[in-house]
Amino acid sequence: MATMQDKTIKTFLPFLFRFFFLVINFMASIEKSNAHIHDVHENMDMVDDMKDYLPFSSYGHGWTHSFDGMEDEGWGMVQRKGNQFVVGGQPFYFNGFNTYWLMIFAVDQSTRRKVTEVFQEALSVGYTVCRTWAFNDGGWRALQKSPSVYDEEVFKALDFVVSEARKYKIRLILSLTNNWEGYGGKAQYVKWGKAAGLNLTSDDDFFSDPTVKGYYKAHVEAILTRVNTYTNITYKDDPTIFAWELMNEPRCLSDPSGDKLQAWIQEMAFHVKSIDPLHLLEIGAEGFYGPSTPERLQLNPNTFAGKVGTDFIRNHRALGIDFASAHIYPDSWISNSITDEHIQFVKTWMQNHIDDSENVLGMPVIFGEFGVSSKDDRFNLTFRDKFITTVCTTQLNSTRSGGSGGGCLLWQLFPEGAEYMDDGYAVVPSRSPSTSSILSLHSRRLQLFNSRCSWRCHWGCRKKSSEDWNHVLPHDEL
Ligand SMILES: *[C@@H]1O[C@H](CO)[C@@H](O)[C@H](O)[C@H]1NC(C)=O
Ligand SMILES: *[C@@H]1O[C@H](CO)[C@@H](O)[C@H](O)[C@H]1NC(C)=O
Ligand SMILES: *[C@@H]1O[C@H](CO)[C@@H](O)[C@H](O)[C@H]1NC(C)=O
Ligand SMILES: *[C@@H]1O[C@H](CO)[C@@H](O)[C@H](O)[C@H]1NC(C)=O
Repeated sequence: MATMQDKTIKTFLPFLFRFFFLVINFMASIEKSNAHIHDVHENMDMVDDMKDYLPFSSYGHGWTHSFDGMEDEGWGMVQRKGNQFVVGGQPFYFNGFNTYWLMIFAVDQSTRRKVTEVFQEALSVGYTVCRTWAFNDGGWRALQKSPSVYDEEVFKALDFVVSEARKYKIRLILSLTNNWEGYGGKAQYVKWGKAAGLNLTSDDDFFSDPTVKGYYKAHVEAILTRVNTYTNITYKDDPTIFAWELMNEPRCLSDPSGDKLQAWIQEMAFHVKSIDPLHLLEIGAEGFYGPSTPERLQLNPNTFAGKVGTDFIRNHRALGIDFASAHIYPDSWISNSITDEHIQFVKTWMQNHIDDSENVLGMPVIFGEFGVSSKDDRFNLTFRDKFITTVCTTQLNSTRSGGSGGGCLLWQLFPEGAEYMDDGYAVVPSRSPSTSSILSLHSRRLQLFNSRCSWRCHWGCRKKSSEDWNHVLPHDEL
């Protein structure tokens, strides 16, 4: 407590500098967005071109050798230009996955191997992005044992995850805390606040209590300024990290107007950018439409979803948020017997979020989680594959026109021998040939698009000879 005054003075000057960087960065991004508008027509020409080249295949081969373009461009930071992600001069449309427990498994030598195996499974289907937890607040194997007190062994495990991801050329979306109680989350922060004598009455006080917000900000700073003990690279400078995520699936039921959560998002986005102006930032939202867009409420899976204090359009307009996110869970959101209604919902839900991101927000959107539980009797493998195919083709339709559909992330990828962690949603590619081939094909198509198109020359495709195509894609004839 006595050090509070001291700390304020010490942090004030650097903060001014950071603010300056943020403003410069923001101005630059506005300029980039404007530049994008002029390229729309070139995009359209390219689309027609692309259609002739997109390969179709029933099985993916040779992922280990087909990181086309990646070697040339180096391992640059992912940036945003208008509606697209870019790396170097090329677009970065991605196929990706979630495995939330990587850090925890990396703590123990006996389970660390599983982290490497996850990345190997990912490589086998051409995944290039992984979303995982950069938090474990209190409890078993906590990263943050109490506010600002870290377990160095667990932090080293997170370092390992980051360095291992780089080895496999997989970029990470790191989530900074949880709305839910898994791995601590907002409930744990509020418990810490209560233990410190604060008068807190709800877990949603996480979003409004100044002291608790201070705990979260300190955690953000601890992660972003961490120097990786394996690579010596500070997290905020590491291009292996694709983006920061404020929170997994934030909801604030205590304020359905959305004002409380909106204020938190704005404050925290500013905080992240003041420390790290380089990396992209997203919220971690499920994508429900809210009170700012009453005409869109009907697109939500149910009426409750419009009253959880979140608001897709408004939330993503917060300054400092670089791209939008939505999750896709027809199995738990639509409580019906299984019909084509589920598949139709997926299409409509995705298309609306893509359209809104493109036309209203002017940013890319990722589908940060999608999956179905095999523990649910309604869903067999046939349904799962159809569901995944629908997600992939809806994204691809946007990719083809250089649109906002930036990427999708399966919930969730598993290696063999970790079944005891399975919540029913696990996909083990080496054990699921049909699912694996759908995922491989999607990765291949996106990487083909990325490698052929360049921002530097206004998206004009580099004309490669058909021989090159056969070389890159030996078994992918239409
Ligand atoms: C705690 O806060 C609630 C409402 O915010 C208030 O009603 C209550 O009196 C407070 N309790 C104490 C002990 O200050
Ligand atoms: C990291 O830095 C330390 C100290 O400067 C040095 O001894 C070590 O070799 C470096 N490790 C790597 C991977 O660069
Ligand atoms: C999977 O479920 C669908 C619909 O419930 C059914 O039509 C189909 O035959 C099932 N497939 C298999 C392989 O059991
Ligand atoms: C493909 O995208 C366009 C706009 O980008 C949209 O109008 C159309 O409905 C989409 N088609 C499908 C089948 O998703």
